[in-house]
Amino acid sequence: MQKPNKRLENQTCVVTGSSSGIGAAIAKAVAAEGANVVVNYHTNKEGAEEVAHAISNSKNSGKAIIIKCDVSKENEVDTLFKKTISEFGTVDICIPNAGLQKDYPLHKMPLKAWQQVIDVNLTGQFLCAKAAINEFLRRGMRPDVSKSLGKIIHVSSVHEIIPWAGHANYAASKGALKMLMESICQGYAPKKVRCNSIAPGATKTAINKEVWNTKEGLENILKLVPYDRMGIPEDMGSVAAWLASDEAEYINGTTIFVDGGMTCYPGFTENG
Ligand code: BGC
Repeated sequence: MQKPNKRLENQTCVVTGSSSGIGAAIAKAVAAEGANVVVNYHTNKEGAEEVAHAISNSKNSGKAIIIKCDVSKENEVDTLFKKTISEFGTVDICIPNAGLQKDYPLHKMPLKAWQQVIDVNLTGQFLCAKAAINEFLRRGMRPDVSKSLGKIIHVSSVHEIIPWAGHANYAASKGALKMLMESICQGYAPKKVRCNSIAPGATKTAINKEVWNTKEGLENILKLVPYDRMGIPEDMGSVAAWLASDEAEYINGTTIFVDGGMTCYPGFTENG
């Protein structure tokens, strides 16, 4: 990995769902760039503590605190931001990442499974973006730390464009997230807010463990990845840190696919 170079020094970043997986790697990557980080968790307090300790123990990193919050609840998201602001002064970067899967064939999908996925993956991202924008507008520009008023990086998925039978709730949440992100950009770019998404492909985390923890499963998934390896959370961390920095200042309203080419539909290589 490239050496961090303090691109986010004196900035504060909230990363939701950062007690494990992609969120944890993003929290570590932005902290390595000097940002103070809020490691948010819902149930996995131990995981959040480990991430915060790793950040605190790593030389030259920003500070880390942990805050519990169910991102689908507006009052909890408001408290998450209030605590962050009282600890670090403001929020410069918001990375709503918390997400889950509840997979069922559509004709068997309980309404509850539909609702839970929409509540966390979509409503949670809306609530965090809303709270972040309110803080950006309240605080005003900080030209000493960034050329933008604030940065929002939604963690989406290749399934914001790839349909996914058996996972319609998840694919619907991510497809809608694309429109949320673009609408935020359209509305707030004039205020110098940058809003983008990162769309991971098949990334080795707990969410898809049953896919990659057998030899056969891994072979099957790799048929969908031209680059011939699964993603790792750190692949997302390094892109998020760069995208949050002024090096990416003119990127707005875009999804960056970090997927080893999955969205190039390798099934068509010798077919179609
Ligand atoms: C899902 C994973 C899946 C990957 C590629 C992700 O958004 O959470 O379970 O392996 O997309 O299909």
